[in-house]
Amino acid sequence: MQKAIFITGASTGLGRATAKLFQSKGWKVIATMRDPSKETELNHLSNVTLVKLDVTHQGQIEEAVNKAISEGPIDVVFNNAGYGLIGPLEAISDEQITKEINTNLLGVIRVTKAFIPHFKARKSGVFISTTSLGGLIAFPFGSLYHATKWGIEGWTESMSFELGFFNIAIKTVAPGGIQTDFATRSLDPVTHPDYNAPWEEMQKLFNPAHWSTPGQIADVVYEAATDGKKQLLYVAGADANASYQRRLEIGKEAFRIEMGQNIFSNFEA
Ligand SMILES: NC(=O)c1ccc[n+]([C@@H]2O[C@H](COP(=O)([O-])OP(=O)(O)OC[C@H]3O[C@@H](n4cnc5c(N)ncnc54)[C@H](OP(=O)(O)O)[C@@H]3O)[C@@H](O)[C@H]2O)c1
Repeated sequence: MQKAIFITGASTGLGRATAKLFQSKGWKVIATMRDPSKETELNHLSNVTLVKLDVTHQGQIEEAVNKAISEGPIDVVFNNAGYGLIGPLEAISDEQITKEINTNLLGVIRVTKAFIPHFKARKSGVFISTTSLGGLIAFPFGSLYHATKWGIEGWTESMSFELGFFNIAIKTVAPGGIQTDFATRSLDPVTHPDYNAPWEEMQKLFNPAHWSTPGQIADVVYEAATDGKKQLLYVAGADANASYQRRLEIGKEAFRIEMGQNIFSNFEA
């Protein structure tokens, strides 16, 4: 029987690449996005249904999930929608904090919750969320983004126990850099003059030449969706694997010091 995947944030980047990959492998794809009227490619592919979904709107979540389920069983839910809020905390408004958490963390939790009865009734299903290398290690000035991505990692581990009783898997795919438009369209950088010097130094961290393509990360999503394992974490991309291995190797404290020394000229351990 044809399998089906429900994807959030399918309008661009990783979500779009994943929609195309699963469609090419014969899956039915429910590609959700905030504004389906702008879509010009996925709407021309067979077995792809576009559904409007802003993951910060509970009403839209319920509508989108009900619509998807009414059209047939869903096998995989891919929680991918997200964006990066970065900058020193004292410069970030409460509205910005709330929006980041509503999107990256509560969006994932609410979409997952809405699908649990469906998966439970079927005694199968896989939840996959896009976290980040930033859900496993922490960069300077990324506190809010890390709070959401680390949050999903911990939440996923806990959820695996209760979902496991019903043969439902829950996993994260943690990519390093992806060559998407994330940095230009999905980054909300906030600056503060008191932090300008370290902020400038931190910019050298970003080198897109070492990043993965969206297609490479979509392949990992496909593996997580189809390998039949209850494995929690899929670190995705050479950069993410190298950094995460380094952290495991030397531990949290030494890793933090190494990061600080690598980035900042006047870092004190
Ligand atoms: N790019 C990277 O280097 C990188 C690295 C690690 C992890 N990630 C994670 O990968 C995921 C996908 O990012 P990407 O790199 O593919 O960037 P992207 O191309 O900018 O995609 C972000 C997607 O999230 C959607 N989105 C944002 N807020 C939303 C909301 N409230 N409701 C529904 N959809 C929303 C965007 O939709 P609109 O088109 O409506 O804006 C877009 O489809 C994110 O969770 C991101 O944190 C990215």
